[in-house]
Amino acid sequence: AVDISKLRDQSGYVTLDIGYKNTGATKSAITFLDGEKGILKYRGYPIEQLASQSTFIEVAYLLIYGELPSTEQLNDFQFQISRHTLVHEDMKKFFDGFPSKSHPMGQLSSLIGALAAFNPDSLKQGQTKDEINLEIIKLIAKMSTLVSWIYKKSLGHPVIYPQNKYDYVTNFLHMTFGQRTEDVKIEPVVVDAMNTLLILHADHEQNCSTSTVRIVGSSDANLYASISAGISALWGPLHGGANQAVIEMLEKIKADGGDTDKWIAKAKDKNDPFRMMGFGHRVYKNFDPRAKIIKKACDDILDKLGINDEVLEIAKRLEEAALQDPYFVERKLYPNVDFYSGIIYRALGFPTDMFTVLFALGRLPGWIAQWKEMKENKEPIGRPRQIYVGATDRDYVDIGKR
Ligand code: ACO
Repeated sequence: AVDISKLRDQSGYVTLDIGYKNTGATKSAITFLDGEKGILKYRGYPIEQLASQSTFIEVAYLLIYGELPSTEQLNDFQFQISRHTLVHEDMKKFFDGFPSKSHPMGQLSSLIGALAAFNPDSLKQGQTKDEINLEIIKLIAKMSTLVSWIYKKSLGHPVIYPQNKYDYVTNFLHMTFGQRTEDVKIEPVVVDAMNTLLILHADHEQNCSTSTVRIVGSSDANLYASISAGISALWGPLHGGANQAVIEMLEKIKADGGDTDKWIAKAKDKNDPFRMMGFGHRVYKNFDPRAKIIKKACDDILDKLGINDEVLEIAKRLEEAALQDPYFVERKLYPNVDFYSGIIYRALGFPTDMFTVLFALGRLPGWIAQWKEMKENKEPIGRPRQIYVGATDRDYVDIGKR
């Protein structure tokens, strides 16, 4: 085997792998995935078991600390988080400055970045384990409050304060859908669906946003700055923004008369930039195990809430047609997790532009676990190389002579 550390300092040896399709950047003990077999495990536990038997907050503990918690550890984790859900009132002044129609992801990445300014301790170099842990707890706690603020702002409603008597997911739903005057009734089926969605999104090894978090953190940037960068990376429609793009696409197909064959032909046409949103994955080349779980969850929740959504029917028709189409089969393009997540978020009452923010809320423990692992491994600053293909020697020409 080639000793990479020996090659590193010899200029002249550069591996060119645009898009890092085959380049590993770290050794990680957090998430295992086998794209050929469609296997996903967090810390060795299959995603199917976690999605059906665990809760989001327990999975967050598992990802961040490496083991499933005891009852006492889980209660303490939940208690610590509920103690930190309040956000500094001065953050509201800054938040109030956003126009009400500004995109939730733009608001979220700025608000999370601003948390560093409100927590100057996080800037201290050489933080102890306990100090880092406190920042982790604060971030998990405050992110759910901030996401609910963003939703309330989009409606023009006042923000709702957290209630420590609730578990993490119920508290989030209370702050999001609750009112000031009375306790809103949160249906258990909604809490379950939210837990499932957040668990399925909680980590996915070295994807675009996670690599961003690790690379920003590798410069010793603080936790909030690193996560804020990850949120920006997630925003793109080829990554987390796909869930919003899927629903927008399905709505368009519906408005266009629901002719799925026509849209499949469009996706196959190499002269048309259109891509079938929610199809394809960089790593899963047979099926996305999360898509299987979410498709079932989607059927269950629509059934239990008594929702008849034509968009879901279009989604099912598209999936069936694509699975038999040689273009999609040859390129191993299957529905990914985001093909169905948007339909559930819609059924729960979230507007389309909130979907990627909800993805970020789910991905947070994974980003934190990866940032923490990168720190504990004492990884060097991330700094890719390049092959220079620009102009060689040129003499400066005075502006008047160009
Ligand atoms: N619709 C139509 N054709 C597609 C699609 C699609 N959704 N995805 C890939 N292809 C085609 C490409 O045009 C290419 O065809 P070619 O070989 O004839 O040139 C071939 O399949 C391979 O595609 P790549 O872009 O090389 O695949 P890559 O691994 O780089 O991209 C990606 C993966 C970005 C997810 C891509 O499939 C895509 O754009 N999908 C739609 C967006 C989406 O759903 N993103 C969510 C990803 S999951 C997540 O972030 C949670």
